[in-house]
Amino acid sequence: MSEPLLRQLLAAALAVRHRAHAPYSGFPVGAALLADDGKIYAGCNVENASYPVGLCAERNALGQAVARGARRILAGALVCEGEPVPCGMCLQALSEFADPDAPLLLATPGGQERRLRLRDLLPQGFRLRRG
Ligand code: THU
Repeated sequence: MSEPLLRQLLAAALAVRHRAHAPYSGFPVGAALLADDGKIYAGCNVENASYPVGLCAERNALGQAVARGARRILAGALVCEGEPVPCGMCLQALSEFADPDAPLLLATPGGQERRLRLRDLLPQGFRLRRG
């Protein structure tokens, strides 16, 4: 994954984080995914008064990508305060569309960065195999 593309992903995640609807947690999150169509899809967290209804930024971005016809995710960026790591549900969701080697850039708005691969965070995602 080229450095300029990763920087673009990070910029998109930073920008969309400002659109987060996070009045309950006060914890805005932005995510951006590079898809196989060459486009970047961004999503923020969207919370709800009924807390479990809330949607994470990563799955929002994934939904945007899939709804526009993308079928593979090549890389992702996540921006939030603290120690940014996608939650387990989002990792499983991403594993449906991304290779285990897909690079993930995890960053804070203040400029701290970590680079991992999906497999570092989800070594064995669930796959439906019958029998
Ligand atoms: N959140 C995300 O959007 N992505 C994550 O990977 C972890 C958590 C959101 C959910 C909720 O709106 C807020 O952060 C606090 O948990």
